[in-house]
Amino acid sequence: MTLIGNDIEAAVKLLNSNQVVAIPTETVYGLAGNALNQSTVETIFKIKNRPLKNPLIIHLADTTELDKYVKDVPALAEKLIERFCPGSLTLLLPKKNIIPDIVTAGFQNVAVRFPNHPVAIELLRKLSFPLAAPSANPFGYISPTSAKDVKRLLFGKIGYILDGGICKKGIESTIIGFQGSQAVLFRHGSISIEEIESVTGKLIIAVKNETNPNAPGMLTKHYAPHTATFLTDDVNQLIRENANKRIGLLLFHQKIVDPTVLYQEILSPSKNLKQAASNLYAALHRLDACKLDMIIAERLPDNGLGITINDRLERATK
Ligand code: TXA
Ligand code: MG
Repeated sequence: MTLIGNDIEAAVKLLNSNQVVAIPTETVYGLAGNALNQSTVETIFKIKNRPLKNPLIIHLADTTELDKYVKDVPALAEKLIERFCPGSLTLLLPKKNIIPDIVTAGFQNVAVRFPNHPVAIELLRKLSFPLAAPSANPFGYISPTSAKDVKRLLFGKIGYILDGGICKKGIESTIIGFQGSQAVLFRHGSISIEEIESVTGKLIIAVKNETNPNAPGMLTKHYAPHTATFLTDDVNQLIRENANKRIGLLLFHQKIVDPTVLYQEILSPSKNLKQAASNLYAALHRLDACKLDMIIAERLPDNGLGITINDRLERATK
């Protein structure tokens, strides 16, 4: 049985007894458990069917707690924390021994973030340990941005989903590591590169390479619907080339007038990239439920959160 509710105390009890609970954050829902307990973390990997080599993010309520779990906070990290935390920023920092190796897949850095969601913060403040929480989806599939989506994806696999409403940002956190005195981008996310660079100066972009041990967050195929998905600058041409197929469209701001298209999702009628980001996964979930032959996604403008959205769509289509 998988229940949805808003009983924070119930979630606290379950988490204190080392069970796994889905929790809301401002980015996407997380599949959370005691990050300091090896077997709870194993359970998280199992429920998600996630390879053990892909490390997890730990979640804290307050930046003052950081020292308990990491050995060092570089000056640039301090600046980023001051500017963006709580918020959709994940930092890679050298872990203390209290963090089990399974959390970091054996890497020396642990990924840490301070979610900016009132329910997540209240929950974390009632716990004496950080929560390890990957997105609450089966490995490789689209992340959930509502309690209902979590229920559909993980029905029967978890007991409780703490409902915090629709995730406002709708796309995962931006992941930043450090190399000497420079900041490195490991994952595009809800905070745009431009915003990060206004604090750090020019970012180094980690190379996308599945075998690069420094970039476990950069898996190529990810965030993918079951339906074959294609990303293009010219939606009309792909429609013409696939005349006999059951087609659904994921468009930036405007519908396409074409009676052969079965279903269309518009991300932001006012061309607002933040709104587009917050609608992206919910739209993909709906499209994927339509039993289509293919989803054609329109490439968004390559600036600000458009870069993050295009990154997710590219990985959904590989
Ligand atoms: O917004 C988010 O970050 C959401 C919410 C629930 O907080 N969480 C999330 O977790 O997206 P997950 O597990 O789906 O993605 C975490 C990413 C993975 O790609 C992982 O490889 C990377 O973070 N990561 C975690 N620890 C890392 C480390 N030590 N070094 C490099 N990448 C790491
Ligand atoms: Mg994920």
